Amino acid sequence: MKTVVLDKKHHDRKGFNCGVEALNNYLKVMASQQGGKDNTRTFVLEDLGNNSTIIGYYTLTMIPLDLSALPIELQKKHSSAGSAGLIARLAVDKRYAGQGYGEWLLIDALHKLLQASDAVGFPLVIVDAKEGVSAFYQRFGFVPFQDSADKLFITIKEIRGSLS
Ligand SMILES: CC(C)(COP(=O)(O)OP(=O)(O)OC[C@H]1O[C@@H](n2cnc3c(N)ncnc32)[C@H](O)[C@@H]1OP(=O)(O)O)[C@@H](O)C(=O)NCCC(=O)NCCS
Repeated sequence: MKTVVLDKKHHDRKGFNCGVEALNNYLKVMASQQGGKDNTRTFVLEDLGNNSTIIGYYTLTMIPLDLSALPIELQKKHSSAGSAGLIARLAVDKRYAGQGYGEWLLIDALHKLLQASDAVGFPLVIVDAKEGVSAFYQRFGFVPFQDSADKLFITIKEIRGSLS
């Protein structure tokens, strides 16, 4: 399996339904535009039987690092860091749910972010989880921010340790 960059001419964005309208709409309306402007990058996993069908997708970008919401030891360690990687969105179509694709997409996204950090240096990856999905990320070592249970982080050091 391999993710590819979303191609609006090829991928069936309208057929995608993960059950969360905001995530469906982002894929339909915004993802390709934002990618064209180099603001975000959206990767999709295609169904091998019909490669225009999207099994799932994720969107990556960078955000300013708000140190104040981190545990004190990380605040000190990363006090000169300016940015963090962000998994801005991640979703699996309902037809493919519960078959391990969400986990596979998350690991694929973390591989890409680790490579990005190896190239430019940033210390954390952050995810804004939708309500009820925080536990999905915590299974992989993400930790909720002190000020918001639905916003979680993991250090690049931990990602490197678990992926290598
Ligand atoms: C959350 C989501 C990505 C999971 O995708 P999925 O392909 O169904 O999940 P997987 O089959 O890979 O599940 C992997 C493991 O995580 C668990 N898991 C799945 N969804 C979970 C959730 N919401 N909370 C806690 N654990 C969850 C599964 O039980 C499975 O555990 P197991 O290996 O012990 O059986 C998917 O349900 C989805 O797209 N939901 C709607 C969109 C959304 O809310 N996205 C998150 C926004 S940030």
